[in-house]
Amino acid sequence: MQPRHFTSLLDLTSAELYALILRAIELKTKPNLDYRPLKGRVLAMIFEKSSTRTRISFEVAMAQFGGTALFLSPRDTQLGRGEPLEDSAKVISSMVDCIMLRTNSHETVATFALHSRVPVINGLTDWQHPCQLLADIQTYFELRGDIAGKTVTWIGDGNNMCHSYIHAAQQFDFKLNIACPDSYRPDQAIVDAAGDRVRFFASPEQAASQAELVVTDVWASMGQEDEQKNREIAFRNFQVNAQVMQAARADAIFMHCLPAHRGEEVSADVIDGPQSVVFIEAENRLHAQKALLEFLICR
Ligand code: CP
Repeated sequence: MQPRHFTSLLDLTSAELYALILRAIELKTKPNLDYRPLKGRVLAMIFEKSSTRTRISFEVAMAQFGGTALFLSPRDTQLGRGEPLEDSAKVISSMVDCIMLRTNSHETVATFALHSRVPVINGLTDWQHPCQLLADIQTYFELRGDIAGKTVTWIGDGNNMCHSYIHAAQQFDFKLNIACPDSYRPDQAIVDAAGDRVRFFASPEQAASQAELVVTDVWASMGQEDEQKNREIAFRNFQVNAQVMQAARADAIFMHCLPAHRGEEVSADVIDGPQSVVFIEAENRLHAQKALLEFLICR
């Protein structure tokens, strides 16, 4: 049987994603310490970039499900010495049950998926961050119910998270309002594929009008540190602050994948305020990934 992969939200059907979100909520709300579906199974985790939430949540998920997670850094493996990705994917997938990668280039994850005999999970690339979206959507379902038909606002960089939000709008059928500087718009092909669910607005306040969920991310992601100063100028009018949240619905919630920079993309009073659900969102990385691992490995 061909393995299923999770390189983006489009690798699963909308029905599969819905089921996965409901399963994540079930795993969280009805914990069963004796449930060990991944006993004897091994997840290889390849990290080209730093991580707190992704690494810990995958490692804990495997441990709680009775399996094992291997942390592999390119520096300490032949990946860092130029062994071809195709060969690495064949070798690693001959010994483990699933591979999770956090890589600079999305091409690396795509190449692994092409040559792996076990499921490959995207733990963040320059193009997508689908695992984070599972946690975000789970959080919305938990706190507010189904996200279908709701209005979500993305403010800031048209980056990997924004791309995954556009995919989520397609798969979970919500409206996505985006406010971003002209030079930092998301990829046009991804936007076009989402149809009229995605709309662009000149200001954060306009984009947040009547929104049920407001989301942002850092102005300079990992690997963009050299651009920090230019980005601070480009994004200075794209902060989520009290004024922006006031434009949203009174019961709107605020999410951020973390880590956050208070005073840059979000003001402290918003991220530490009553509408912020960022720590529930962070914890849900664990539950959502358990559901994902179960779906991919136990088929
Ligand atoms: N949100 C997220 O992916 O966090 P980490 O970079 O800590 O894994």
